Amino acid sequence: MSRTHSNIVDRKLEHIRICLEKSVEMPTTTWFEEITLIHKALPEVDLDDIETSVEFLGKKLSAPIIVSSMTGGHKISRNINKAIAKVVEDLGLGMGVGSQRAAIENPELEYTFKIVREEAPSALIMGNIGCSQLLRDDFIHIARRAVNMIDADALLVHLNPLQEIIQPEGDKKFHGLTDRLRELTSAMTTPIIVKEVGCGISMEVAKILEKCGVYAIDISGAGGTSFAAIEKYRRKEDELMAAIAETFTTWGIPTALSLCEVRYATSLPLIASGGIRTGVDIAKAIALGADITGIALPVLRAYYSKGEEGVRLLLIRLIEELKICMLLLGVREVKELKRVPLVFSQKFRNYLQQRGIVYTDEVRRRGGYC
Ligand SMILES: Cc1cc2nc3c(=O)[nH]c(=O)nc-3n(C[C@H](O)[C@H](O)[C@H](O)COP(=O)(O)O)c2cc1C
Repeated sequence: MSRTHSNIVDRKLEHIRICLEKSVEMPTTTWFEEITLIHKALPEVDLDDIETSVEFLGKKLSAPIIVSSMTGGHKISRNINKAIAKVVEDLGLGMGVGSQRAAIENPELEYTFKIVREEAPSALIMGNIGCSQLLRDDFIHIARRAVNMIDADALLVHLNPLQEIIQPEGDKKFHGLTDRLRELTSAMTTPIIVKEVGCGISMEVAKILEKCGVYAIDISGAGGTSFAAIEKYRRKEDELMAAIAETFTTWGIPTALSLCEVRYATSLPLIASGGIRTGVDIAKAIALGADITGIALPVLRAYYSKGEEGVRLLLIRLIEELKICMLLLGVREVKELKRVPLVFSQKFRNYLQQRGIVYTDEVRRRGGYC
């Protein structure tokens, strides 16, 4: 394995280790707590009649939940991918694989990703490359290889400028990405979904992405895993860089706000991720305008605490919580969540007002399946 390949693999393993041992979630929140769902004491619906299934990318999901991109590229990540894939196949959910860059540069590592399609022949599976791959001359070829490697239903392209800048081996060039994204969406038949990695997407960026022809946006907002926090621990020997990373641990648009920004700006299908931790968070995200939700860090931790069974229990818990929440709101189907009354705190309303966002009920209902 060349130095570059092993560097990427080592870094990804270090990320996993730090995520398990340290506190890597943002000290600030998603702002979901600034939104209140109104309890309905007369639900007029039976728990057994509640239907959590939705359709996304032409596939039926048993609940609006995917496991967000995390791993691949090493024997250890192959085992994590295998467990997650098996569970999402069994439960009828979906997943994104971690960045496929290591396997694109070294085909010997492809097996760590291919296992996902082997274990989940029918689930919604998404490939993953980083925006820095788009700046290479052969970027279309790279994107096709990522898709073909796992027979992906869509390709996620992650935008991670903060992470790249604060990690020593990160890419520092971002000029020209918009043009490359436009070229990518016209060259590919597979849908392209752009995602952040924990800093959120603004309405200005969402409009650009829509013009570029992306199929959907995964906002991956602030309030969950912070790559600046991960970097702070990775670089603890380098006092200056650790301090800089610390400064940016709260950087980004909180998930609930990013969701409003993007839903206001576009009618594209939306994935809400970044700090989604409970079925109530999922219900709030859908009520605000998301089509489905993504969860990363808790899945990794569940795998390390109880293996495949841990991942299964976590995802079942989220589905059950969503169901209970739907019952307590008196809704039978997921799309009805977009019609339940919401109360926004004054702080939340101030933010929307200053951003010129008029968040009407009609705006909440834009999107994929509503
Ligand atoms: C260990 C780890 C590795 C990750 N690797 C990737 C990656 O390769 N590509 C990507 O797009 N996002 C990656 N992410 C970001 C997640 O997909 C997600 O956007 C982010 O962690 C926010 O979700 P969370 O708060 O539920 O963890 C990674 C996250 C974690 C925790």
